Amino acid sequence: NGTETAAMIAAHNLLKKFYHHLLIHTKEGQVALDYLLSRGFTREIIDQFEIGYALNSWDAATKFLASKGFSLQLMEKAGLVSKKEEDGSYFDRFRNRIMFPIHNHQGETVAFSGRIVGSGEPKYVNSPETSIFNKRKILYHFHEARLHIRQKQQAVLFEGFADVIAAVRAGIHHAVATMGTALSEEQARTIRRNAESVIICYDGDRAGVDATLRAAEMLAEAGCYVKVATMPEGLDPDDYVRQYGPERFKADVIDASISLTAFKLNYLKKGRNLQDESERLRYIEDAVKEISQLNNAIEVDHYLRQLANEFSISFDVLREQIKSYERTRK
Ligand code: CTP
Ligand code: MN
Ligand code: MN
Ligand code: MN
Ligand code: MN
Repeated sequence: NGTETAAMIAAHNLLKKFYHHLLIHTKEGQVALDYLLSRGFTREIIDQFEIGYALNSWDAATKFLASKGFSLQLMEKAGLVSKKEEDGSYFDRFRNRIMFPIHNHQGETVAFSGRIVGSGEPKYVNSPETSIFNKRKILYHFHEARLHIRQKQQAVLFEGFADVIAAVRAGIHHAVATMGTALSEEQARTIRRNAESVIICYDGDRAGVDATLRAAEMLAEAGCYVKVATMPEGLDPDDYVRQYGPERFKADVIDASISLTAFKLNYLKKGRNLQDESERLRYIEDAVKEISQLNNAIEVDHYLRQLANEFSISFDVLREQIKSYERTRK
């Protein structure tokens, strides 16, 4: 229903401006604003990303939208209010949170994510799936990044809001995020339709590495050339920019991104003592297995030579070894 869709989007748009106003111009928004500024968000960035603040109230958004003529039924459909089980009354979904508006790929505001001010759980509260917000389809910041992605034929993929915002501060405008969930097939296809290559830049923790491998698979499947930007252990891209600055982030992380194969080979080294002979030999064996999975003969040759050089083993021996895996490969 077109009228209803338009009304849901209009409600998001008005509420986005209301939240932004509360953050910037009210006493109630001061703590949230100070928190953002202390994290390195500038006034300019807060305006650019239209970040806001939802009051610590059960009905501020509901009353605001009602005053603009929206019905409770519509607010509920849009995921902006929740219904109380006991008496069927409604209350604001987002309370006392820093509000990130989420746009669809046409640039219409279709959802929000609200971050807690400071620390606490849950860190983010998100809009539910609605007729205008399909999480599997939307990439955060895509509407702003699309032209940059097309021009560069490359996208940089992050986990979260703060990471995209930090990237933009570092001049990386072709930045998008999955918002914490696993990359979907639809999102991978959207990236492929707009770019040949993608750099995955997820958090430097176990979850980030696992998600990198899964996203890489999806993106390669979709036909993208995949590179990986590796984060130091325990840091995410936003932490990195805060700690080392935007210039170093661009130079040492994004521009230093490596091929997916190189990333996997590095990953195989983790937790192994390569000074130890038997551990070193096992690493080489695993590395050869990994290389045997490549479909491209030129790449196989390249990584085998690299491995031969790195460990001073004969290239011919590695070639011989890889044959036994190639026969059994998936
Ligand atoms: N996320 C979510 N719900 C949560 C936690 C995370 O939707 N409870 C999503 C958010 O989009 C978040 C992303 O997953 O941006 C990455 O999660 P995480 O790395 O935990 O958060 P950060 O983005 O690092 O958040 P911040 O820097 O604000 O602490
Ligand atoms: Mn926008
Ligand atoms: Mn994370
Ligand atoms: Mn993170
Ligand atoms: Mn973070």
